[in-house]
Amino acid sequence: MPAIVVLGAQWGDEGKGKATDLLGDRVDYVVKYNGGNNAGHTIVVDGEKYALHLLPSGVLSPGVTPVIGNGVVIDLGVLFDEIDAINARGVDTSRLVVSANAHVITSYHTTIDKVGERFLGDAKIGTTGRGIGPAYADKISRIGVRVQDLFDEKILRQKVEGALEQKNQVLVKAYNRKALSADVVVDELLAQAERLRPMVADTSLLLAGALDQGKVVLLEGGQATMLDVDHGTYPFVTSSNPTAGGACTGSGIPPTRIDRVVAIVKAYTTRVGSGPFPTELLDADGERLRQQGAEFGTTTGRPRRCGWYDAVIARYAARINGVTDFVLTKLDVLTGFETIPVCVGYRVGDTVYDEMPMTQTDFHHAEPVYEQLPGWDEDITGARSIEDLPKNARRYVEAIEAMTSAPISVIGVGPGRAESIVVRPLT
Ligand code: GDP
Ligand code: IMO
Ligand code: MG
Repeated sequence: MPAIVVLGAQWGDEGKGKATDLLGDRVDYVVKYNGGNNAGHTIVVDGEKYALHLLPSGVLSPGVTPVIGNGVVIDLGVLFDEIDAINARGVDTSRLVVSANAHVITSYHTTIDKVGERFLGDAKIGTTGRGIGPAYADKISRIGVRVQDLFDEKILRQKVEGALEQKNQVLVKAYNRKALSADVVVDELLAQAERLRPMVADTSLLLAGALDQGKVVLLEGGQATMLDVDHGTYPFVTSSNPTAGGACTGSGIPPTRIDRVVAIVKAYTTRVGSGPFPTELLDADGERLRQQGAEFGTTTGRPRRCGWYDAVIARYAARINGVTDFVLTKLDVLTGFETIPVCVGYRVGDTVYDEMPMTQTDFHHAEPVYEQLPGWDEDITGARSIEDLPKNARRYVEAIEAMTSAPISVIGVGPGRAESIVVRPLT
């Protein structure tokens, strides 16, 4: 039975949380496979707003088992705070399962993330400051702390002492900061271990069994294609693989079991943090998108950079991820623009590209080539079928669908669960 991947096609905040939540009553497991509390998903259910960071978005659906996969990096303090906050609002989290192989974000990771960014000055990435990059760096350097290490004090102490031996050199000598004490870090982690223990499992084994029994497993990506450490706008990326391949490594589910790859794409484009963004608008239209779309970060509150839809990026995301369906979100935000430009290629010097340029240097210099589409004035938030949309909104959807190689199966016309047009069911 099917495993479905839900991921972001652009630079994040496309509305992945809402899309996952929408599928909640038709799936059995929702697995977060990458990232950590750099993610921020806002979900609106019956007018109630929930902001999730580490918990998989399926947590709001009563029948779903939420799983934090091995590909995630976990700040345990943040996880427990999030569980407490959501429990206080009457949401049950007792089914939550956490992979024994997931890595732990310690206090030295968050410290190094923040001082490292300050040290970079103008060259900073604009990270969320949550310790994500340093935790993944330790994982790849084979000096990371895994969830299972919290249950073996001797190993835990060895690992933290080993890691801090290197890090304290850097903190003191390069960053002019105080050295951190291994004992303090170990005590902090041990204090969290007992609460975590009942949630921990071999999640890859659990999910294989679930698929064998015919259960539906949804793999939920944090961040997005253009923030992927391999396929995104490196170095202005996150430190994990949000793309479809990352769903396999980050969950332990093999590619042969994945039936559908659903990419979430906004009807325009946003980005948080530094890095190239060809269709960015630094004018009144950009401000209007930011205000109409409430484009302020769920995690850091930073204003999101806004720009027009970029079909080259959507096509790239379709290719890299093997997208079977797109969910087009926030179409309602475009209401009221007289004409809506859509980027169909990039001009770099005398060359016009209709694919992502091979080099980052060319992408930094890319000037968008626009096609102009007519806008609409009618309120579309009440539309529930494609026929309910005004002619030009329909034309916009058809035009951008024709520019990529996968169908638009769902259209978002508002933040609420019900504010969606389902053209083709996803499960
Ligand atoms: P995620 O990180 O991909 O889950 O996205 P975020 O939650 O960070 O940002 C998406 C924002 O858009 C959230 O505030 C959602 O409530 C909102 N949203 C999602 N879909 C729609 C839509 O179709 N229309 C409108 N107006 N808002 C939407
Ligand atoms: P969701 O899941 C948007 C961006 C940061 C920064 C870069 C690296 O809500 O779509 P990091 O802290 O990950 O090392 O920061 O990635 N970034 C996001 N931007 N949405 C996100 O998550 C993001 N997670 C990280 O702004 O530019
Ligand atoms: Mg977000």
